[in-house]
Amino acid sequence: MKVVNILGSPRINGTSARIAKTFIDEAERLGAESESYYLNGMKFKGCQGCEQCHSKSDKCILQDDLENVLEALHSSDIAIFSSPVYYGDVSGQFKMFFDRTWSLVDVNYDNEMPFSTRLPEDKTAIFLLSQGDYAEKHTDIIERYKPYFELYGYELTVIRATGLTSGDPAADVSDWQAKMTDLAQSLVNAN
Ligand SMILES: Cc1cc2nc3c(=O)[nH]c(=O)nc-3n(C[C@H](O)[C@H](O)[C@H](O)COP(=O)(O)O)c2cc1C
Repeated sequence: MKVVNILGSPRINGTSARIAKTFIDEAERLGAESESYYLNGMKFKGCQGCEQCHSKSDKCILQDDLENVLEALHSSDIAIFSSPVYYGDVSGQFKMFFDRTWSLVDVNYDNEMPFSTRLPEDKTAIFLLSQGDYAEKHTDIIERYKPYFELYGYELTVIRATGLTSGDPAADVSDWQAKMTDLAQSLVNAN
């Protein structure tokens, strides 16, 4: 079993990264392998809207550091997508990456439902968001991104670390880390 960990926060040891790491540590303890990708340290462009992933190729034609990440989404069983909330949305780094996942979708406008996933079946995604505001705020982010994870065929679990008002990267996130340990045990043991 393979777990891919996509880190959308520039804070490499920040709250979302530490929560994600708890999942990775437990999954590895249970025998899974993992790959982590720190988006802020990678060189890549945003989607160019060229649509060549739907005409010339079944992949994104851009040759940059995201090639490996997009490939890893094909070969993994579980993917963690994490981001801090910036200005009511995901981070810019995460959004640039997420737009490139348009290449994970096959498009055929002759079909009644023109979009289908290019990813293999039976995959799980964890969408992990960390925010300063309390839990009532920014639920719209989940509503906006959930349909895309579903389009890619992921079984989606959402984890939201909320109320981190201090902005401290070392803030106590043990409650969410405990959830991640439980989640790793249920997902890794289930496969
Ligand atoms: C540029 C910037 C914008 C932010 N915007 C929001 C926001 O709109 N809502 C919110 O709740 N927190 C906001 N925050 C706070 C972060 O979401 C919060 O500190 C989060 O826990 C950081 O996650 P990380 O530790 O994984 O980097 C913002 C922080 C920064 C630096």
